[in-house]
Formats: sequence, structure tokens, C-alpha cells
Amino acid sequence: MTDMLNIALPKGRLGEKVYALLKAAGYECPAIEEPGRKLIFENPETGVRYFWVKPSDVAIYVQRGAADLGIAGRDILLEYRPDVYELLDLGLGKCRMAVAGPRDFREKPGRPLRIATKFPHIAAKYYAGLGRDIDIIKLNGSIEIAPMLGLSDVIVDIVETGKTLKENDLEVKAEIVPISARLIANHAAYQFQYDAIRTLVRKLEEQL
Ligand code: PRP
Repeated sequence: MTDMLNIALPKGRLGEKVYALLKAAGYECPAIEEPGRKLIFENPETGVRYFWVKPSDVAIYVQRGAADLGIAGRDILLEYRPDVYELLDLGLGKCRMAVAGPRDFREKPGRPLRIATKFPHIAAKYYAGLGRDIDIIKLNGSIEIAPMLGLSDVIVDIVETGKTLKENDLEVKAEIVPISARLIANHAAYQFQYDAIRTLVRKLEEQL
């Protein structure tokens, strides 16, 4: 084992932006910029080892200590409530969690509201706060088609540009919470690699 910082990056567009930020902060790793299918990269000079993981898995790697640090969306942190430290709001990947439904949708108070979502915990908590009876239908993607097909009344999902809603004849009915990418840390790593982690946080803050 080395005392390199192991950092789980969310694979995809957000991950590219996060790496660009880390690079600007002095944590570059030229190997990660080369084309290919490799998933782990390290640069002993800057003391970092990066790995690409599915965005919804970042918090699992960090909670279990397979990664010292990671970058996860607030949506994932609110949904799965991992036992990690949240160190910094990176201000990237900004979007919002919202309730959306067909333009002509009218609530029928007599029966539970059927909600399709990838985020059952966030949806349940939101509606519990309103005292509304709900029936949650957990899906894994393409949530926007559920109301059109009669699978649900509304959806709870991430809205970024609003394009997906618009193109599927849906509109935002209520905003639940703003979302952005957060730097998270494993509890033990934060103790044992305190100086290295605080330096990284400070350098990232200088870039924001
Ligand atoms: C997310 C989200 C919406 C879309 C919102 O889906 O679930 O479908 O992005 O973006 P927009 O407001 O800019 O249109 P994602 O791309 O993660 O795919 P998924 O359907 O597999 O969840």
C-alpha cells in the first residue's frame, strides 16, 4: 500500500468536468487523458490514483474505504445516505430534484398518488412532509415515459435543462431540492490522510 489518495470519479460527463477541476488544482494524471477502456490510473508525482466508477456507486467505494475520496451528486447522497464526510460543494453538475407530470394532470386526492422514480427515499420523504399518501414505483431509467404509459401519475426525477421533460410532454409541478456534485471522504482516510486531504480541499477551493 502507498499513501496515495484514492479518488473515485463518476464516469461520464460530470466526471470529465471533475477531473478537469482536479487537474487545474494540481492533481493531474496524464494517463487518464489517453483514449482506452482502462478504469484505474495513477500519478505518483501528484500522489493520486483515480478510478472511474458508475456515479451511483461512488459513495459505496468511499464508505467502504476502497476510495479515500469521491465525487458524488447530492441526489445520490440524499437517496442512499452513505456514512461519509461531505467536504465540499464543487458547484458542478447543477440540477434539481423535482416532481413532474403531464401538463393537464390534476390531483385526485381520494387515492394514493402513483410516483415513478429512481429515488424512492427522496420521494417518500418529500411526500411524507406533505402528508400525502403515495405509491412508489421504482424504475432505473427513462422515468419520463411512465406517466404517458399510465404506469404513474407523476415522476420524481432530476431536471437539468428541462429538455427531456419538454420532449415527453411533462412539466415541473414542484421543486424538491437543488443538486450539485460534492466531494466526499471516507471517515478513516480523513483521519489518517488528514493533511493530504485538507491540502486537496484547499487547492480545489482556490479553483471554485
Ligand atoms: C437524467 C434524468 C433526466 C434527464 C434530465 O437522466 O433522469 O432523464 O437526465 O436532463 P434534462 O433536464 O437536461 O433533459 P440520465 O441522462 O441520467 O438517464 P437515465 O434515464 O438513464 O436516468
